[in-house]
Amino acid sequence: MRLKDKVALITGGANGIGLATTERFAKEGAKIILWDVSSKGSEVAGRLKADGHEVLFQKVSVTDEEQVKKAVAEAHAHFGRIDILINNAGITKDRTLLKMSKQEWDDVIGVNLTGVFNCTQAVAPIMKEQNYGRIVSASSNVAIRGNYGQTNYVATKSAIIGMTKVWAMELGRYGITANCIAPGFITTAMTDLMPEEVRNQTLPMIPLGKWGVPEDIANGYLYLASDEASFVSGICLTIDGGAAR
Ligand SMILES: NC(=O)c1ccc[n+]([C@@H]2O[C@H](COP(=O)([O-])OP(=O)(O)OC[C@H]3O[C@@H](n4cnc5c(N)ncnc54)[C@H](O)[C@@H]3O)[C@@H](O)[C@H]2O)c1
Repeated sequence: MRLKDKVALITGGANGIGLATTERFAKEGAKIILWDVSSKGSEVAGRLKADGHEVLFQKVSVTDEEQVKKAVAEAHAHFGRIDILINNAGITKDRTLLKMSKQEWDDVIGVNLTGVFNCTQAVAPIMKEQNYGRIVSASSNVAIRGNYGQTNYVATKSAIIGMTKVWAMELGRYGITANCIAPGFITTAMTDLMPEEVRNQTLPMIPLGKWGVPEDIANGYLYLASDEASFVSGICLTIDGGAAR
């Protein structure tokens, strides 16, 4: 088992890529701290516990700094350490620049950028104390290639790549690695929001000729969170079927 007895906090772990990551990490022996705003997290935790895994579900919004700090303290008290942070929670509110409201901008920045800052800042001191940590965050291949109608989303996903490089520099001396993943088109509830016609238009952009599945990204998170990647820090791993330009 590649994560035996490691404690992993996964944000947005109740659905899509976060759910696939939660399930994969549990099978690899990790103890899971599952965060989500959705109560579905409770069902997921119940199912995994019934299968013999150790899981703590906390209903947390990553946007709420105080809630994040409190939940990290409770989870740390529960498991005694936090080895891995997967900053996966994210949302989209797409609109072209000329039509995007300030609220749509703020909402996406709040979850995808400030949320990642809140979680990482709350967990990093624990990792520093342990002299061990793995931080892996969700960027996107749109950070590299841009995307129509996603000023807010692309801003956050580009920022993730930059912050990851800063954290690799600042936290490396404490045995902490920081990396991110840039997924391409992956079939989840988030991409179900895209009209069928637009989804079909994406296929010619992908050399492998198909969309990815959440497990493709969970495999990347697993590698970067494991000891196999102990000398890997500051990178953005693109997993997109060859689509990024
Ligand atoms: N699906 C894709 O094609 C794709 C591509 C590139 C990047 N990503 C990124 O991967 C991550 C996961 O995407 P997904 O497609 O699995 O999305 P999803 O919508 O299927 O799941 C996201 C999860 O995050 C949770 N969440 C939303 N706001 C939250 C908050 N404030 N606090 C805590 N949890 C919250 C949701 O309840 C949900 O369970 C996101 O960061 C997304 O931007 C996805």
